[in-house]
Amino acid sequence: MQKPLQAKIIKYFKEIDSTNRYAEDLVNNNRIDDGSVVLTDFQTQGRGVEQNIWESENKKNLLLSIILYPVFLAPEKQFALNKVISLAVCETVKEFVNQNHVTIKWPNDIYVGRKKIAGILSKNMISGNYIQSSIIGVGLNVNQMVFGADIPNPVSLKMITGKSFTRTKVLKKLLERFNHFYNLLVERKTKIIDKKYLAKLMNYNSEALYRSGDSVFAAKITGVSKFGQLQMDSGGKNLQFEMKEIEFL
Ligand code: BTN
Repeated sequence: MQKPLQAKIIKYFKEIDSTNRYAEDLVNNNRIDDGSVVLTDFQTQGRGVEQNIWESENKKNLLLSIILYPVFLAPEKQFALNKVISLAVCETVKEFVNQNHVTIKWPNDIYVGRKKIAGILSKNMISGNYIQSSIIGVGLNVNQMVFGADIPNPVSLKMITGKSFTRTKVLKKLLERFNHFYNLLVERKTKIIDKKYLAKLMNYNSEALYRSGDSVFAAKITGVSKFGQLQMDSGGKNLQFEMKEIEFL
């Protein structure tokens, strides 16, 4: 039986290129404890999804990467890790903004209303039929008030509430929620995770507009496959999309 995970900070940098990049080095060069966290105040080359840059003002937000060895999880179930971290970030944000409309925008974003408050960038290293290691990077906007004009719909805890937050408090909550949901996964309590995930999923079971290639269509999200594809119903037809194949309008 695997021991419950206790995520803990093992490295803090005032400044680094990217916590995900550094975590990759750690995993490649050493045996690091399960649940090790790399934290920084500032990234010079913060990575976002699809080669985007993750912008974050010095000392304003949370920037961290969690190193995991989820060897108990079959590679085809790796999207469960996205669910766990998304739920942890979602519940953390909800705790501080005290609003109900905090949602997970499939696959990796956390939104408050129509604005993005956090992004997640994860990378799983697969070896044969198990996940050798996983690096989960989280950028959560806490106290930043102004973002670059090219960043789509950004928001922070402070922009929503008008209050500043102690980042260590937010971090503590995030790690506590992460431990909780990850340990549910360790205990194979995936039904609880799946139910909570769908309850937080943006546009779940409600009709909205999407674009895929040249076509714009209305559909209801019906779920997420175990491989992480978005499942939808459009006028009675079942559709399934990979990441990058569909855009929320
Ligand atoms: C996204 O584009 O939405 C994902 C952003 C992920 C950003 C975090 S910040 C900490 C970690 N280190 C990185 O370089 N990126 C992730």
